[in-house]
Amino acid sequence: MIQQTTLQRSTILGVGSHVPANVVTNHDLSRIMDTSDEWIVQRTGIRQRYWVDPGTSTSDLALEASRRALSAAGIQAQELDCIILATLSPDHEFPGTGCFLQAKLGVPGIPALDIRQQCTGFVYGMSIADQFIRTGMYRKVLVVGAEVHSKGLDRTTRGRDVSVLFGDGAGAVVMGRAEPGEESLFCSSHLHADGNYARELWIESPGMAAHGDCHPTPEQTARGAHYPAMNGKAVFMHASKRMPEAVMEALQANGKTVADVDLFVFHQANLRINEMVAKQLGIPEEKVFNTIDRFANTTAATLPIGLDEAIRAGKLKKGMLVACAAFGSGFTWGSALFRW
Ligand code: ACO
Repeated sequence: MIQQTTLQRSTILGVGSHVPANVVTNHDLSRIMDTSDEWIVQRTGIRQRYWVDPGTSTSDLALEASRRALSAAGIQAQELDCIILATLSPDHEFPGTGCFLQAKLGVPGIPALDIRQQCTGFVYGMSIADQFIRTGMYRKVLVVGAEVHSKGLDRTTRGRDVSVLFGDGAGAVVMGRAEPGEESLFCSSHLHADGNYARELWIESPGMAAHGDCHPTPEQTARGAHYPAMNGKAVFMHASKRMPEAVMEALQANGKTVADVDLFVFHQANLRINEMVAKQLGIPEEKVFNTIDRFANTTAATLPIGLDEAIRAGKLKKGMLVACAAFGSGFTWGSALFRW
């Protein structure tokens, strides 16, 4: 007879984040490309971002954020059962950046998994960790979102529509089993993608598609196909529709309403998108925690950076119900609801 097992529930044990030391203001950008502080602030809410120095990689930022998350969780790296790392700016084409992070953390042997869901990567990562913990396969999982965007941006006027939006940074959480009766609980996660929009926000080359050689052709290099390209209006339109849907999906799955949520931490693509999401859902301004003015868009790292900053700002406290939602390249989108 197959023995019935009760599913474990998971919780977030600790969070940490890290950004490089170099602040790059909008004024700094206006010295290297035709842009202005006024244009960037009005359209996006961004005032500054952090960019790495040439010797720093994505796994370096991930390492610092992971150490802080481990410390907040009160555990050693050796107690981890698995590493999940979300990034669109890997150290190398392969192997995955999770492997480089694992070596730097000094924990050989445990699985290290990279996921490529861009701005929704951290929600996907938490969801995968939650499934591993619920089934009893792993007890403690490190979930990291880390990006070094600055090295891959077209920092000239040609690339200004994209390059002003992104910053470097990393954030991490340690997820683990919730003890019976524990108040802190990961309630649920909800994941989506629509590949019909894959080319609306992407890097065309290098890659194995189409022309038979993974390197950009001279024609692709000349038109900057190796830099990120974005249909800003399409992203705006879809993000402001999908994020409210994802929030409502999480609330309905748990029998909650917008009013039950104490704090909303959304992906930081654009302040205007988040203001529209809040307006559509009737969320009061003080319940939305934004960081885009200081960090810009750090893609997979925006949510854990947001959680960590919310704790430091005294906005996130034990027992609060938190809703996260994200939208990004793919298109991908999703949400997570948890009791802190
Ligand atoms: N500085 C100054 N001028 C600029 C810049 C810049 N950095 N970038 C573009 N412009 C110019 C354009 O060339 C254009 O000039 P023109 O009228 O002479 O042709 C003008 O500004 C308006 O350009 P639009 O692209 O129409 O500007 P729009 O009002 O759509 O704003 C923006 C662009 C902010 C990107 C907007 O489309 C948007 O918010 N989209 C959402 C996408 C987003 O936030 N992405 C974040 C990353 S993706 C993610 O995380 C999900």
